[in-house]
Amino acid sequence: MCGSSRKKSSDLQDLSPDVQSEEAFSLLMEKIYKATGQDFRQYKDTTIKHRLETRLRLTNSKTYQEYINYLDKHQEEYNSIVSTLVINVTQFFRDKNDWQIIKEKVLPQIIAKSKEKKRGAPSINIWSIACASGEEPYSLAITLREILGKEIKKINIRIYGTDIDEASLAKAREGVYDKSKLEGVEPELIEKYFRKNSSGKYQVNAEIKEMVKFLRHSIVNGDNFAGFDFIICRNLLIYFTRQLQEKVYLKLYNALIPGGLLWLGRAETPVGKAAKLFHCLYYKERVYQR
Ligand SMILES: C[S@@+](CC[C@H](N)C(=O)[O-])C[C@H]1O[C@@H](n2cnc3c(N)ncnc32)[C@H](O)[C@@H]1O
Repeated sequence: MCGSSRKKSSDLQDLSPDVQSEEAFSLLMEKIYKATGQDFRQYKDTTIKHRLETRLRLTNSKTYQEYINYLDKHQEEYNSIVSTLVINVTQFFRDKNDWQIIKEKVLPQIIAKSKEKKRGAPSINIWSIACASGEEPYSLAITLREILGKEIKKINIRIYGTDIDEASLAKAREGVYDKSKLEGVEPELIEKYFRKNSSGKYQVNAEIKEMVKFLRHSIVNGDNFAGFDFIICRNLLIYFTRQLQEKVYLKLYNALIPGGLLWLGRAETPVGKAAKLFHCLYYKERVYQR
């Protein structure tokens, strides 16, 4: 595209100065929250503004105010803007090396603890927050089956996958993936836990699918949950302001049972009061203990 007159997507300077108006930007975040219930008000501005550029360009809006006017006339644009603002990149066994620690240390520790419970059958409650299209909780279900084998029947395992993006959750519930999405999965695991369907896509087996329940929930303004042995919250908090991160880390702390474990993304670490509450178990892999 050498010599092209097309604007670079990140080149905000070429747009009218008004596009950078903080007031109109805040108003826009407010409108999105009121219309959709999705609260991006405390996500990092830089990420949100960068992603907004695409919608501004596609709707021929030169300023945030013009985009607000467009939204007022085209209610269906709210779906597009929410899909643009949620960043739903994910993959099976993302950060493959880190899954080694999860398989060899973290899950065995959780399994051993479940067996110490004095009353009732052993149980394990797991929450995969920001699960996108399901690859992360399904990777976890596969790993648990690999570790436990037939013993899995003796433990009551519940895995919840939550996300704010209904379109991603629909894909997760379907559990059907293109071959390209299975890049991180060992061939023998594909053989064991997936079935190729007539259109050449891969369906997770019923035994894996039934281990995970998907729900729409926002970690920002959704209900507080509790009683989890293990929480996975990877590659979400990185998009939040520090203030919001502090609030959410405390929420995660309260959602874990004493001794429960938290697994974060590679660039994430508890901040604020939570930094002192969590004990770091594996720094490189970002595994923390309540
Ligand atoms: C980059 S993906 C991370 C997916 C997965 N955890 C991983 O690491 O591969 C971020 C996900 O966070 C979800 N998300 C954004 N805001 C959220 C919120 N407030 N509560 C729950 N999920 C949220 C998005 O819809 C998106 O699916």
